[in-house]
Amino acid sequence: MAGNKNLAAAKANKKDEFYTQRVDIENELKHYKPHFAGKVVYCNCDDPYESWFFKYFAMNFNALGLKKLIATSYDGSSVAGTEINFDGEEGESNARKIIIDRPIEDYNGDGAVDDQDIRIYLKKFPPEVLVSDDEYKPGDFRSHQCVELLKEADIVVTNPPFSLFREYVAQLIQYDKKFLIIGHQGAIGYKEIFPLIKDNKIWLGFGFKGGAAHFYSTYEDTATAGDHREGMIRVSGVVWFTNLDFSRRHENLDLYKSFSPTTYPRYDNYDAIEVSKTSDIPLDYDGVMGVPITFLDKYNPEQFSILGITRPWFDTPLHNKFYPKQIQHNSNGTVQEVTKLNDGAVLELVRPLIDKVYYEVDGKYYTQLYSRILICNKHPQKPII
Ligand SMILES: C[S@@+](CC[C@H](N)C(=O)[O-])C[C@H]1O[C@@H](n2cnc3c(N)ncnc32)[C@H](O)[C@@H]1O
Repeated sequence: MAGNKNLAAAKANKKDEFYTQRVDIENELKHYKPHFAGKVVYCNCDDPYESWFFKYFAMNFNALGLKKLIATSYDGSSVAGTEINFDGEEGESNARKIIIDRPIEDYNGDGAVDDQDIRIYLKKFPPEVLVSDDEYKPGDFRSHQCVELLKEADIVVTNPPFSLFREYVAQLIQYDKKFLIIGHQGAIGYKEIFPLIKDNKIWLGFGFKGGAAHFYSTYEDTATAGDHREGMIRVSGVVWFTNLDFSRRHENLDLYKSFSPTTYPRYDNYDAIEVSKTSDIPLDYDGVMGVPITFLDKYNPEQFSILGITRPWFDTPLHNKFYPKQIQHNSNGTVQEVTKLNDGAVLELVRPLIDKVYYEVDGKYYTQLYSRILICNKHPQKPII
């Protein structure tokens, strides 16, 4: 999981400087085009010189029928100011604001509006300097200036700083904005995010091929040689979060398997069965099932209901057993007393595992699973006999 190492390091060090490729933006945005007609779009973590989000909307201003495009960049960004300082005043902030309310012209007359024309436009009409306020640096999405711009916006589209993801989404919800943003699938299990998913207030977008993406960055890449691209880092588990509807969200997942108690064991501590792969969801089961979080890529709210998640902070009567202290048997043969089994869904084992971590309570053996989303099928088919 090389990409996850990249992300873990980014979060630990608050390294938020990685930049989205044009192709990834185009591949996602093509599923939502009708939403943008007549709308004010705001890219609020986006340097107009560098961000392909800004460039995408500037180049497609007419094609999408936008009313206005706003982009603001952050003073703390490693790229903000690398070009602007050339013209800027000594000591002034590197954060900038640009507002476009008409399409950019084909300034260089090459028959297409492209990023060269955007560069010419930015030279002719330089973006405005943003200033700090009592609390925040210039261009911070929480600053007074940026919040005023947010109020004006209909749809926010960007890749925000991963380290501030909770706060970022909370602000979008507070101001009742439509949005399409990049995040990490780990955020699905956040107590601030999952309830919004459960209540169908936000969902996953179309997504990146293979659930991983390459971003422009100067950070050290820990991807394997085959996955390495020069000047980029590979991050696995990246997803789009949105509250814009799109067609795949209403397509039923095809189900092929029938339920049998031997194939689908019951959890020891949740009133649900274990379905370890989304494609194995039984077509005829009418009770609660635990599925991996990658299920959300296929989630159609007309087909399934989401009831919860197997996280300690999520309180549900489905979590019906709590263990006293447990003995953890590690793969190297050492043991320790822990309380972890209450943090997720648990399966009882017939015998201890070999070379893998397992837990022991009162002479019984258990294994703990990754986070599961608890779902039920709204229209289970009749059992196949
Ligand atoms: C993951 S990068 C993505 C940049 C750009 N949106 C893109 O996708 O190419 C996140 C950006 O947010 C900026 N940033 C960090 N903290 C911020 C804040 N509090 N407010 C606004 N932007 C911030 C970083 O400097 C960085 O440029």
